[in-house]
Parts: sequence; structure tokens; C-alpha cells
Amino acid sequence: MSAITSLFRNDYDADGFRTCSVTGLDVHRSVENHVKLFGLTAVIALAVGGVFAFTVAMTRWEFIGFLDPGSYYTHLSLHAWNLLIFWMVFMEIAILYVGGPMVLGRKLPLRRLASAGWVIMALGAVGVNASILLTEAPNEAPLLTAYVPLPVSPWFYGTAIVFLFGTTIAALPFFATIWFETRGTRRSLPLVAFGAFITGIIAVEAILGGIAAFAYALAWRVDLIAAVEPGIYRQLYWIIGHGSQQINLLAMITVWYFLTHVVGGAVVVSEKVSRTAFVFYLFFINLGAAHHLLVDPGVSAGWRIWNTSYAFYGAAFASMIHAFAIPAGIEAGRRRRGQGGGLFGWLTSAPWGNPVFAATVFSIILFGFLGGITGVVMGQMQVNMTWHNTFAAVGHFHATVVLGTTLAFMGLVFFVIKTMFRRDFVSNTLASAVPYAYAGAMSIVTLMMMYAGILYGVPRRTAEVVRNIPGSEFSFAAAIPIFMIFGIFAVVAIASGALFILVSVGSLLFGDRLPGGDDGGLLPEGGLHADGGQPIHAVELRGTFTLCLVFLAVFIAIYVLNWYLVTQLWSIGA
Ligand code: HEM
Repeated sequence: MSAITSLFRNDYDADGFRTCSVTGLDVHRSVENHVKLFGLTAVIALAVGGVFAFTVAMTRWEFIGFLDPGSYYTHLSLHAWNLLIFWMVFMEIAILYVGGPMVLGRKLPLRRLASAGWVIMALGAVGVNASILLTEAPNEAPLLTAYVPLPVSPWFYGTAIVFLFGTTIAALPFFATIWFETRGTRRSLPLVAFGAFITGIIAVEAILGGIAAFAYALAWRVDLIAAVEPGIYRQLYWIIGHGSQQINLLAMITVWYFLTHVVGGAVVVSEKVSRTAFVFYLFFINLGAAHHLLVDPGVSAGWRIWNTSYAFYGAAFASMIHAFAIPAGIEAGRRRRGQGGGLFGWLTSAPWGNPVFAATVFSIILFGFLGGITGVVMGQMQVNMTWHNTFAAVGHFHATVVLGTTLAFMGLVFFVIKTMFRRDFVSNTLASAVPYAYAGAMSIVTLMMMYAGILYGVPRRTAEVVRNIPGSEFSFAAAIPIFMIFGIFAVVAIASGALFILVSVGSLLFGDRLPGGDDGGLLPEGGLHADGGQPIHAVELRGTFTLCLVFLAVFIAIYVLNWYLVTQLWSIGA
């Protein structure tokens, strides 16, 4: 017990503030303690979801065939809810507190609400887990979507609403901070706080959609209404179903700006352009939810094409801006410090042994190349036909939420361990190995998921398919080699995730306490504000420009390849 309480202890001045030795920010005890509380809870959810990653992946790898089809859906539901929702959302509340009161050097207002929000969220999360575990026929495990009219326990809908309600309460202190900061002034927020603010607005929209969807289904399950209209449920559900991914995206980009600056020496090349990109998300990203309804008979083809292709490109454009701005910020910052000769010297000289930096940069690269490109391509109506409900869709979203968001959040957890818990890693070598092992193995896993789905049509959400499709002579046996590679690297990825948890928890419990003023080896060479005095627009950005051309070439190649694959479908039945 004393080991746990000591985690929440630091030296503060009489007003409860201390100066962070890495960021130089004035951090108040109330902010720091709540960031720790939400962050620790998120890591517990990651560990629980990770256990189910093992059982689920070892079932899809039919060579092992771990679970029977009956229990597969219970495990899949627990995997999805603990990782996509609880790991992410607890982290995102912590990020709102970092992006708001911490960056602005304020106390956390409405502290009781923050703590109450945590209690309600925790109760909701435990309730959702219990309702999935205790599901009995005729009820079904809800999976992520809990689609009606499949009967799902009313306890599930009820506790999911409790969790969403708790999240709203926990977000209020963040909004209050922004209000206190900006009332009566025309001062603009720092970029990280601005990104967190836009994330918060999109989160509110998503939460309202989620409460509406689950309340509608709950009313039907407890017989308050006689019937439920699946088309309406799906429209409402995807406000949160995709909305939660939008929160992940924006929170991750905010973390990218923050961490590349503090551990990589990056600068913001143009505040205006980066802020405009965040505002673009506000207007366009919600339309992305429509790509989940691409085969829905309830909406017209025109509606689907407009929302997923034309209008949605407003959000894709915003992502392109960040995809340029963040590497450009690293290049400009490092060149200004004299840390980058030649085309890519600014990259090769970067602190790759620092796990915070490596996790952040791998997250940027892999999210862009694997998650981002595939998302825009498969979100297009015609091409979507070769992806829809196949294992390839699972590959796409693991590239976004695992290689992108989870990796970035792992970097943030390592950062918080050093800067807020003030603990050194139990082993620098193991900590440095985590992003390499996790990113490397998971990249191969996601690629195999995509290959199995697109090239062989292997479906998602099924325990048994490659060796035996009951009642059919159709065979996916040709995909067995792909699944062998998938299975082996899934084991490596899960082991690397376990290593992350071991290093994190081990460092908290057994890591040496960092002396005051020690940066824990996180700061870039020359400190946070070193620059050669050169104005930012005089710095060459040819490395980033070259990377953008490579990205464009890969994008075009994948787009053309996918259209080619669609044309191959025309021969079906010929
Ligand atoms: C080592 C890491 C992981 C492995 C090996 C893994 C593997 C898998 C597999 C094999 C499936 C089953 C797909 C199917 O049958 O359709 C799945 C589903 C899923 N995973 Fe993961 N996963 C990992 C980490 C994560 C993380 C970190 C997240 C979220 C942040 C996540 C979110 C999901 C979701 C949302 C589903 C879909 C559930 C559904 O269809 O309802 N996974 N994962």
C-alpha cells in the first residue's frame, strides 16, 4: 500500500506547484495526481485486453485453435472493449489534463468531479466486463458494435452508458480550465491545448451519440419500447463507434506534437497551418463514420459516396497537413540546432535509443503508411467492396489504433513514468526494445491480416474458417501460410506488449527515484530550447519533402492496386 501511495508523492512548493525538469512547465499536484490515476487505470485495461489479444489471436491462428467457437465472441468482445474503449479513453482523459491545466500551468479545477468521473468510469468499465463475461443464452456477447436486433444483455447497455456518463463528468474540469484560461481575453491557446480542446469537442459529440444509441437499445431490451429500428441504431451507434476513433486520432496527433517537441527538439513550423488542420477535423471528420454504412441498404448510394469520398477528403486533407507539419517540425528543429547534415541527418542523428522518441516516430510513420493510406482507400465505396467485413478491415484498424494510437500512448506512459512518477526505468535496454519489438511484430501482423482479407477474402469475426467452413465446400486453405506468419508475429507482438507492462509497472515499483532537476535522459541534445538563431523559414525542409514524395508514391501504388483488385471481381461467376 505504501508503495502505491508513494507513487503519488512529489516535492511541491507551498501552493502545490513544482517545475517539471523536462518541459519546464509549472505542474500542480492536483493535475499530476489525476494524470497518474487515469494513466494507471488505462494500463490495467491494456493488460486485461492484452490477455484477450492472446486468446483471440491464437484462435484465429487455427493451427493452434485455442478457443471453441462458442467462447470466441466473449473473448473478442472483452478484447475490443478493454483495448479500444477503456485503455484509450482513460488515457485520453489523462491527455486532456496534460493538454489543458498542465500545459497552461494551472490547478485542476472541479477536482471532486474529476475523481467522481474516474469512479463512475471505473464502475462502468467493470460493469461492461462483468456483463460480457456473464452473458448467457439467449443473449449474445455484444462485440464492439452490439448491433440490434441481436439480443445483448441490458446490463451491457446500462453499464456502457454509465461509463460514457463518467467520461463526460471527467472531461468537465478540462473544459472549465479552458474557460478560465480564455474568458475575457483574446489570447490564443498553445497548440497542444488547442488540439486537446478540439479533441474534447469531438469527444462530446461522440459521447452524446453513444448515449443515444445505447439508451435506444436499452429501452428495447427492458421492454420500454416494443421494437428497435436497426438502421437508426446503426446511424446512432457509428456516431460513437467511429467518433471514438476520431478522438483517438486527435489525441494521438496532439501527443505527436507534444512529444516530438519535448524529446526530439521539434518546433512548430506554422502554428496557423497546424491549427487550421485541427479545425478541418471539427467540420469534416465526423463524416468518416459513414464508411461503416457503405453496404447499408437504408442509406442511398449518393449519400454514401458524398460522405465517404468527397466531403470526407476535408479530414484527409487535415491529416496530410499534420503528416507534413510534424516531420517538418522535427527537421526544422533539429537542423536549427545543427543536428542534421545532408538529406536525412536530422533523422539519423535523432535519439532513437530513447523509447519515448522511438515510439512516437514509429507511431507517426506506421499510422501514416499502414493505417492512414488503407483507411482512405478502403473508405471509398467501390474499393470498399473488396475489404468490407474481411480480415483486411481488422488489419486496417489495428494499423491505426495499435500501430498508431497505442504506440504513441505507450511513449506517453514512458514519458509520464519519468516526468511525473519521477522513476527511472528498471532496465533502459528493455524499455528501448519495446517500441522496436512491438512496432516491428505488429506491422507484420497487420499486413498479414490485410493480405488474408484482400487476397483470399478471409472474413473477420469468426473462430473457424480456414480449415473448415461448416456446410460449404469453399476453402480458404490457400491462406494457411499467411496465417502461420500472422500467428508467430502475433505471439511476438503480445510478448512485446507484456514487456511494456512489465517495464512500466516494474519501473514504478522498483525504479530508482530521479533526483530533482534530472531530466531522466529525455531531453534532446542541447536542451529543450536550443536553436542556432536561424529563423524557422530559412531552414531547409528537403528531407521532409522527399519523405512526402515517397508517401505519395506509396499512396498511388496502393490506390491503383486496389482498383485493379476490384476489376478482378468482375470475373466472378463468369
Ligand atoms: C498484440 C496486439 C494485438 C493482437 C495480436 C490483436 C489481434 C486481434 C485479432 C486476431 C482480432 C480478431 C479479429 C476477428 O476475428 O475479426 C482482433 C480484434 C479486434 N482488436 Fe485486436 N489485437 C491486438 C491489439 C489490439 C489493440 C491494442 C486494440 C485497440 C486499441 C485492438 C482492438 C481490436 C478491436 C476493436 C477488434 C474487433 C472486435 C470486433 O470485431 O468486434 N486490438 N484483434
